[in-house]
Amino acid sequence: MVGISFNQKPYRRIIMELYGADVVSSPSERTDFGKKMLEQDPDHPGSLGIAISEAIETAVKSGGTTKYSLGSVLNHVLLHQTIVGQEVLLQFEKIDTKPDVMIGCVGGGSNYAGFMYPAMGRKLRGEDDGTRFIGVEPASCPTLTKGEYKYDFGDTAGMTPLLMMYTLGHDFVPSPIHAGGLRYHGDAPSLCLLKKLGYTEAVTYDQVQTFEAGKLFSKTEGLVPAPETCHAIKAAIDEARKCKETGEEKVIAFNFSGHGLLDLKGYGDLLEGKLVKYV
Ligand SMILES: Cc1ncc(COP(=O)(O)O)c(C=O)c1O
Repeated sequence: MVGISFNQKPYRRIIMELYGADVVSSPSERTDFGKKMLEQDPDHPGSLGIAISEAIETAVKSGGTTKYSLGSVLNHVLLHQTIVGQEVLLQFEKIDTKPDVMIGCVGGGSNYAGFMYPAMGRKLRGEDDGTRFIGVEPASCPTLTKGEYKYDFGDTAGMTPLLMMYTLGHDFVPSPIHAGGLRYHGDAPSLCLLKKLGYTEAVTYDQVQTFEAGKLFSKTEGLVPAPETCHAIKAAIDEARKCKETGEEKVIAFNFSGHGLLDLKGYGDLLEGKLVKYV
């Protein structure tokens, strides 16, 4: 578990331990790569890239007893999640409408792509050209908006196959924002290509803006969104506000990727005025 999340989110760790897991803070002393990172900085906050390197090293050295499956930066993971987007289209069909804007937060890309790829497919086949797609990322980890489009590794040590993607560099260590799932240096190649070709837009917000959106959503809807999800909500609110100004009516759909009941520390920091922006 990425070190900063291990410290910020003890309840996530406890749930895993409850189910029988042995949870280790990364970088750790258990791998050569972890040790190397700790030598450079004994208080290293870690990153998803480093945790992936440690996981791969552990699997490789296990003598064949352990396998490692890389997560949401790989295209097949995005396709697996499209069951969500298929259902979204069916639900819209039921109410005889379609979304004008589809929004999701972007870590590696799986929840956003899973949500909107079926609708994107319609657009690419020329069956619909009206829908806009917006991926939302943290200002402090702006891969789609400020990354370089090139081949890079999915992990920090450089053990994965090379991926053609927007990347901030595989050794990029993101700021310790509460949206731990968005602290990743790259994005899935298929999503990056869609961005490069202009089929999807991308925007960024700092974490105070996103937690404010989460607070408003909690008060109006009664559900507390995850810090990652707050990014999508902030963009949805901004799109709705634009409509209010122009008087246009639009159907805005966003993906509610997770609840924030295990992330209350971030909300606590917001309420106490202690939340750092990180841009
Ligand atoms: C609640 C939540 N939303 C979104 C994400 C971002 O990941 P992805 O871009 O792969 O959907 C994560 C990642 O951990 C997450 O926990």
